[in-house]
Amino acid sequence: MVSNRSLVLLQEPTGMPQVGKDIDYRTSDIDIESAPSNGLILKTVAIAIDPTLRNTMRLSNPKPYAPLYKKGEAMWGYGLSEVVVSGNAGWKKGDILMTPLTKMSTYWRLEEGELNGPSKAGYKKIDPLPDLNVTTYLGALGMPGMTAYMSIKDIIGDFKPNSKLFVTSGAGFVGSLVCQIAKQAGVKVIASAGSEDKVAFLREKLGVDKAFNYKTADIDAELASFGGEEGIDYLYDNVGGKQLNSFLAHSAVHGVVVVCGAISAYNASKDQPAEVISNFPMAVLGRQLTVRGFIVASLYPRWEDSFWKEMPKMVQDGKLKSQEDVRVGMDALAGSFEDLLTGKHQGKLIVLVDEEQKGRWIQRNPDGFA
Ligand SMILES: NC(=O)c1ccc[n+]([C@@H]2O[C@H](COP(=O)([O-])OP(=O)(O)OC[C@H]3O[C@@H](n4cnc5c(N)ncnc54)[C@H](OP(=O)(O)O)[C@@H]3O)[C@@H](O)[C@H]2O)c1
Repeated sequence: MVSNRSLVLLQEPTGMPQVGKDIDYRTSDIDIESAPSNGLILKTVAIAIDPTLRNTMRLSNPKPYAPLYKKGEAMWGYGLSEVVVSGNAGWKKGDILMTPLTKMSTYWRLEEGELNGPSKAGYKKIDPLPDLNVTTYLGALGMPGMTAYMSIKDIIGDFKPNSKLFVTSGAGFVGSLVCQIAKQAGVKVIASAGSEDKVAFLREKLGVDKAFNYKTADIDAELASFGGEEGIDYLYDNVGGKQLNSFLAHSAVHGVVVVCGAISAYNASKDQPAEVISNFPMAVLGRQLTVRGFIVASLYPRWEDSFWKEMPKMVQDGKLKSQEDVRVGMDALAGSFEDLLTGKHQGKLIVLVDEEQKGRWIQRNPDGFA
């Protein structure tokens, strides 16, 4: 038995999760010598701190779209772990497991049945490329990278020649990958962001054709001049609200809207309703638009093979860049939620839990744009 430290949910938070009240560390004993039959003993390497984990704390949600945390038990997230002892013929010591159910613990056990059970598709063995930081598998080669790549493949397919695309939250992690993929396909890209620094990033680092600050610019005028007579062919939408509304007025005939996120509506309430989309039916009808939402997990089975064939090479060759904000050590986990939810991070927020082997996992500057 060894001592095992975990970040545990103590109670459902109201508002910002408070360390010590809603979430805190607890220590217990764990057997890391004898693996469960057909199961694994794992050491957590790194965990991505995703906004959706706040939803996983909503214990009172009657209809969650993913499993909720349990009071008094270790929380989990999209992460990577190293096999310490294997009781499963398909896995050996040193293999790296990628799963959305990675425990926020030093060690954890994957019991008999789970690896081969109904959620087995959620457990993937990865063979990290030697010249990439392992954290890349939680960013450009992880869920956000899959989101950008798979949604473009599934909903847009090959971009039409000489086409135009509008990306909302273009400087965000998913948005920045979408901008780069589209530019490489020869698409003309306009993107929005909420600060002048981000607008400069869009122009200078991502090389988009046009960028504007949605808080200060005249969105209609920006889209009208970019779209010209023909209008804009595609919207990759992370935001919704008035930017979506404006696109509908400037879209091309047979335009396509990819609904990835709707962050402008995430905090909507009775008192602060979501921004109104006033022209939706008429625009969809009149311009014969295709509008499709998606959840990345449902695209995974169809696009998994081509993602792993194409994306690691693009990242390795420097054709797709991204920025990660890597915090080191188990102690960094608890505070990272507040930083995520108040925007105190630069790029994908990841905690490297396995501090002891930091040099093995992180060999390059995680800011791919530096
Ligand atoms: N469908 C799926 O399966 C799937 C999977 C992963 C992510 N997503 C969604 O994809 C979107 C992008 O994810 P990400 O991780 O790359 O996040 P992101 O774009 O890095 O995250 C948030 C950004 O959204 C912008 N924002 C916040 N509130 C806003 C508002 N009211 N109006 C306009 N912009 C606002 C902020 O940027 P500014 O400073 O520019 O305002 C903020 O930095 C999110 O909506 C997420 O929920 C969907």
